[in-house]
Amino acid sequence: MTRIEIITADITHLNVDAIVNAANRSLLGGGGVDGAIHRSAGHELLKACQLLGGCNTGDAKITPGFRLPSKFIIHTVGPVWQGGRYHEKGLLASCYQQSLRLATENGIKTIAFPNISTGVYGFPKREAASIAIESVQSYLKTHPEIERVIFCCFDDENFEIYNKLNYSTISIERVQSEKEVQLVADLAYTIWNEHYVQIIGQDQVNYMVTNFQSAEAMSKQIQTEGYEYYIIRHLSEPSGYISTKLTGDELFLSKFYVIKEKRGTGIGKEGLKFICERARTLGANSIKLTVNKYNTNSIKAYEKMGFINFGSVVADIGEGYVMDDFVMKLDL
Ligand code: APR
Repeated sequence: MTRIEIITADITHLNVDAIVNAANRSLLGGGGVDGAIHRSAGHELLKACQLLGGCNTGDAKITPGFRLPSKFIIHTVGPVWQGGRYHEKGLLASCYQQSLRLATENGIKTIAFPNISTGVYGFPKREAASIAIESVQSYLKTHPEIERVIFCCFDDENFEIYNKLNYSTISIERVQSEKEVQLVADLAYTIWNEHYVQIIGQDQVNYMVTNFQSAEAMSKQIQTEGYEYYIIRHLSEPSGYISTKLTGDELFLSKFYVIKEKRGTGIGKEGLKFICERARTLGANSIKLTVNKYNTNSIKAYEKMGFINFGSVVADIGEGYVMDDFVMKLDL
């Protein structure tokens, strides 16, 4: 299920954990969505805002939702558009990032944004929409705790702009539920049977899928061995998966597989970018992986991504099968 939704609605009606208010620096109310939120939330909101001491442009502060259906209101102050010479784009991106940071800090999982700065503040709508989607997508990639972000448009023009924007068709999301683990295991079954039979033979593929790529094996790794699993979707279709494990200051890239029909859609590049971002977030300074010596396509792909051959490893993986791999490493 995609985590970003675009709707046309009155944001004060939305039953989400938090709605975001396009406020002004005083935080004492105004027109537009700010006025609508203050009217719907009731006078306690103004009292709560009076205690906040205002808010800088690009920053965000949080209050309860009071009479609104949403539990919280995150007030952010967008930039007034002055032609783009006064860091307006960065300040608008910061509104989304700071609002999401507050959401994470307050355990908020579902959040709705209005089209910040595109009303009274005159920010060009298309540019604002592009900044909004890119900022949110970038945050969601490394923050699986945010489950849903709604862009709440209030006019058809914004709704059309957001939907036309060709935002990234690739999403990479943390695997949490049993259902998603099973989805990854099903992907593994497909990938291993379509790619590895000609490399290691059907028998060993069956052995690997049963013992190392099954839902049980993956759940055990997630729950007891500190592995993180991510599912990759292209155009919302399950298309690949990643699993990693942090050991010291090195991130071990245990699995990074893409189904054949989705090769060439940019998943490799997006996936590696995601893995590097995750490694940096975890404080790792390198990424290590092992790859079958006869898997020439993958070896070439990793070399293209900047991995260097770091030696080899031969290990008995049971039932007389031997893993004969290259070790490859990418310094961050
Ligand atoms: N629900 C959702 N969106 C709304 C609503 C609503 N009830 N009311 C207005 N909007 C939309 C507007 O149509 C616009 O697309 O919110 C978007 C932001 O417009 P503004 O509310 O004018 O906010 P902004 O451009 O950021 O200007 C902020 O306006 O209201 C004052 O006090 C506010 O000084 C601040 C300035």
